[in-house]
Amino acid sequence: MRNFVESNQESFPMNSHSLVAIDDLSRQDILAMLERARYFEQHPNSHLLDGRVVATLFFEPSTRTRLSFETAVNRLGGRVIGFSDASTSSTSKGETLKDTIKMVSNYADLIVMRHHLEGAAQYATEVTDIPIVNAGDGANQHPSQTLLDLYSLLKTQGTLDGLTITMVGDLKYGRTVHSLLMALRFFSPKFNFVSCPELRMPREYIDLCDKLGIEYHEYTDFSPEVINESDILYMTRVQRERFSDIMEYERVKNLYTLRRSMLADAKPTMKILHPLPRVNEISQDVDDDPRAYYFQQAGNGLFARQAIITNALGIDPLKS
Ligand code: CP
Repeated sequence: MRNFVESNQESFPMNSHSLVAIDDLSRQDILAMLERARYFEQHPNSHLLDGRVVATLFFEPSTRTRLSFETAVNRLGGRVIGFSDASTSSTSKGETLKDTIKMVSNYADLIVMRHHLEGAAQYATEVTDIPIVNAGDGANQHPSQTLLDLYSLLKTQGTLDGLTITMVGDLKYGRTVHSLLMALRFFSPKFNFVSCPELRMPREYIDLCDKLGIEYHEYTDFSPEVINESDILYMTRVQRERFSDIMEYERVKNLYTLRRSMLADAKPTMKILHPLPRVNEISQDVDDDPRAYYFQQAGNGLFARQAIITNALGIDPLKS
């Protein structure tokens, strides 16, 4: 899954406060982080980060992740440096990721980084001793998204245990579904995977479900039966930027669209999630359905990211 390679002649101990992959968190770690998010939903503004500087390095585009991390820092009283477009940084002159990370480590207490290469965040932890938060590395993982997704599940379903989660769309390249599956392995889920054959859930995640005895079903048909048994419908965008063949993308991009008429017999407690941005996966007429939760889900990102930042900096809000 992580194939980022670059020579690393100097080595630092990995900072244990980094958040690189959701797999690094135990069930207890996840629950503690969600408790922290709940605290920040009740106390979003504070001075916990007074005097701290957080760098947000976005080598790939983002709206929600970058802005919610930056809002989180601002509401905690810290300051933000960084870039949202790598073409305006010295990366465009040929500076390596290693040199960029080592330089920024001189200025900031924490780096939040999105990069197109899988394993980039892990690599960054190996060239610096300040904590790194992975804000998405290629098609690999998006752990902060997972924590806000889990917080959304907990808030709307009252539990993480025993839920039926239907993941729809691009299960091959969608890093959010990979991270969510990994996290939910602790909570006895049942999964429905709805995708075309080309965008199936990758083999390693299927194998993990088999190994752990997690119930799952794969479908190419987005049927009423699947929708009606779901506690969570997790819709995803087909990740155009990961396709090497644009014709292949054109062929599969609009295969699954959720429309309001498809929700007639869905559970009243079911919630529709989407990491956003959406393209055509959810029609606009779903937005007014009380089960549509994707905008609130993005709002929960602020609290989850306040939890992640304070944890990475070793700040306990309950003891400060
Ligand atoms: N969900 C998500 O990662 O959105 P952005 O790409 O806008 O950050």
